[in-house]
Amino acid sequence: MRIIIVGANGQLGSDLSLILSKYNPICLTHKHIEVSDVQSVKKIFKKYQPQILINTSAFHNVALCEKLPEEAFRINFIGVKNLAENALLYNTTLVHISTNYVFDGNKKRPYIEEDIPSPINTYGISKLAGEYVIRYMLKKYFIVRTSALFGTHLCRAKGTNFVETILKLHKENKKIKVVNDEFTSPTYSLDLAKQISVIIKTSYYGIFHASNHGFCSWYNFAQTIFEILGIKKKVIPVKAENFHPELKRPAFSALENRRLKELGLDQMRFWKDALREYLKNKGYL
Ligand SMILES: NC(=O)c1ccc[n+]([C@@H]2O[C@H](COP(=O)([O-])OP(=O)(O)OC[C@H]3O[C@@H](n4cnc5c(N)ncnc54)[C@H](OP(=O)(O)O)[C@@H]3O)[C@@H](O)[C@H]2O)c1
Repeated sequence: MRIIIVGANGQLGSDLSLILSKYNPICLTHKHIEVSDVQSVKKIFKKYQPQILINTSAFHNVALCEKLPEEAFRINFIGVKNLAENALLYNTTLVHISTNYVFDGNKKRPYIEEDIPSPINTYGISKLAGEYVIRYMLKKYFIVRTSALFGTHLCRAKGTNFVETILKLHKENKKIKVVNDEFTSPTYSLDLAKQISVIIKTSYYGIFHASNHGFCSWYNFAQTIFEILGIKKKVIPVKAENFHPELKRPAFSALENRRLKELGLDQMRFWKDALREYLKNKGYL
């Protein structure tokens, strides 16, 4: 299989590069490709003619997306459109990573693939636009929606991940205030990379939800990190409206891997088990 990974030095891209190494994937960083530049994308497709291209690139700092909506659409929509146009031309299967933030958060039960997206912030709207352009143009695609990633290689867009942010605050002896009225499914990027390696071997094209099982509030997520590490630390619960009043985020954005389960492909485990392994792999346990 000739596979290209776009964003190969990112949080998920690094784990994908590792998990797919038996295929000798072509690992492209931002230095090699600018997805929003038509010529740059054309050149890559012409040179490698990939059978599969996995796009992990995104403009996904939620606060920055509000400040720079054109930039969010340039990468999350135009960039994806460029990839889709070339995928069509070269008969490439496009694997695109999307987000739980395409939903509005009003459901109160984990979202399944059939639920109607209705994003409430610029990040979610631009990512949904990316999904739509793929669905409109291609038949051979996998849109993989995931949530709250944490991985050994830090998220490049954010310079960290939630687990490391919490542990840093603890190390610096700072008060830890965490939102307790937003719920999500924390997901280990290594698990997601393994799940993607299973999906791409099939021809069950379409949308997949792929998150670790279960969900929690960010407050509970922080508490669980300390619980697993056996650290006694007070975590202070705060309301989202006080913590980030300027930002709209879905209150409930947990995902259910309904389609993976129905197809017998679901490899994801409970989020606390994944978190324990992450902490072990990082040498904290
Ligand atoms: N992180 C999360 O919690 C989360 C949750 C749900 C869904 N997602 C989705 O999961 C995907 C992967 O996230 P991640 O945490 O692995 O992100 P990441 O660590 O920020 O990695 C993104 C990669 O894409 C590259 N990139 C950014 N803009 C690009 C462009 N215009 N052209 C080419 N390459 C570009 C980045 O390179 P540079 O850093 O050098 O620019 C980086 O290598 C994203 O699509 C995101 O929307 C993430």
